[in-house]
Amino acid sequence: MDTTHSSSSGADGAGPELQEHFEATIARDQRVEPRDWMPEGYRRTLIRQIAQHAHSEIIGMQPEGEWITRAPSLRRKAILFAKVQDEAGHGLYLYSAAETLGADRADLTERLIEGRQKYSSIFNYPTANFADVGVIGWFVDGAAICNQVPLCRSSYGPYARSMVRICKEESFHQRQGYELLMTMMRGTDAQRTMVQDAVDRWWWPSLMMFGPPDNDSPNSAQSMAWKIKRHSNDELRQRFVDMTVPQAERLGVTLPDPELRWNEERGHHDFGTPDWAELKRVISGDGPCNDRRVQRRREAHEEGAWVREAATAHAAKQAAQAREGAVA
Ligand code: 3HC
Repeated sequence: MDTTHSSSSGADGAGPELQEHFEATIARDQRVEPRDWMPEGYRRTLIRQIAQHAHSEIIGMQPEGEWITRAPSLRRKAILFAKVQDEAGHGLYLYSAAETLGADRADLTERLIEGRQKYSSIFNYPTANFADVGVIGWFVDGAAICNQVPLCRSSYGPYARSMVRICKEESFHQRQGYELLMTMMRGTDAQRTMVQDAVDRWWWPSLMMFGPPDNDSPNSAQSMAWKIKRHSNDELRQRFVDMTVPQAERLGVTLPDPELRWNEERGHHDFGTPDWAELKRVISGDGPCNDRRVQRRREAHEEGAWVREAATAHAAKQAAQAREGAVA
């Protein structure tokens, strides 16, 4: 059966067979591919999520990138360099996945720097000292793993496949963060204080990465029905808390939540309520570093204009040479 975009009438311009074929693909846990017909809402939801995710990876280079020149040793500098470079790669895979849905990368970038598309709230917090690099690896990349491993089973093929490599790299990121913190905890009292201070500042924003609570998450139900998302925001947040508590104990730090305790009956940790008003403020552009992050992205985009022009001219020249070669 032809399931490509060319189609007749009905919802989204599709006949009932195409709609049924799409729904059967989702029900059978098979992948939707770029060539397949898909409802317009599914396509738009994917572009929204994938673009936000790509922007998060690219903006996420900044908080840690600021520490590359100030890393305390050559080894730490090399690790941090590799990590920040990985984030750039993740952004590029994700923009490519968005392009398979008909989005235009230049347009997505414009939307980001004009504040018309979102990126993760977590990257609007400042990095005060080098322990923050470790805590970002441990918490932020740890939260990313919780959120993104299930996305390897997302119903849209290019997104799911891009997540496989991204998750492998995020694992390395998390471990380098934890290893850095372990080293600092074996160091001086001043270093241990730095680690605890960073933990105290990053814990609640990390819980907010998973999004608003389920009862205030307008997109979750449909995204889960389409199997774009496999778990709700609260389920993933709980998974992150359960995973992180024993790691904190092993490290010798306390998590800044007096309500945090094991609940035998539920088989999970109970924990306090994040400040949802703060999440809303940060998402709507009023976080501690929003202006700085977007401004820096805008400058980098402008400074890179000549590279894009040169690459485009080079590609056009190569294509012309290939055409001439084909004619000769
Ligand atoms: N930061 C910014 N915006 C957020 C947010 C957050 N932490 N949480 C939710 N939002 C936004 C949503 O995008 C949505 O806005 P929109 O409708 O205008 O797009 C709105 O708040 C309501 O939230 P919902 O829960 O209804 O939205 P979703 O169902 O899309 O869920 C999500 C939000 C859990 C972030 C989901 O989009 C998702 O899983 N995305 C993929 C993973 C991702 O983007 N991760 C970014 C983390 S950064 C990262 O991984 C980089 C690594 O290097 C650490």
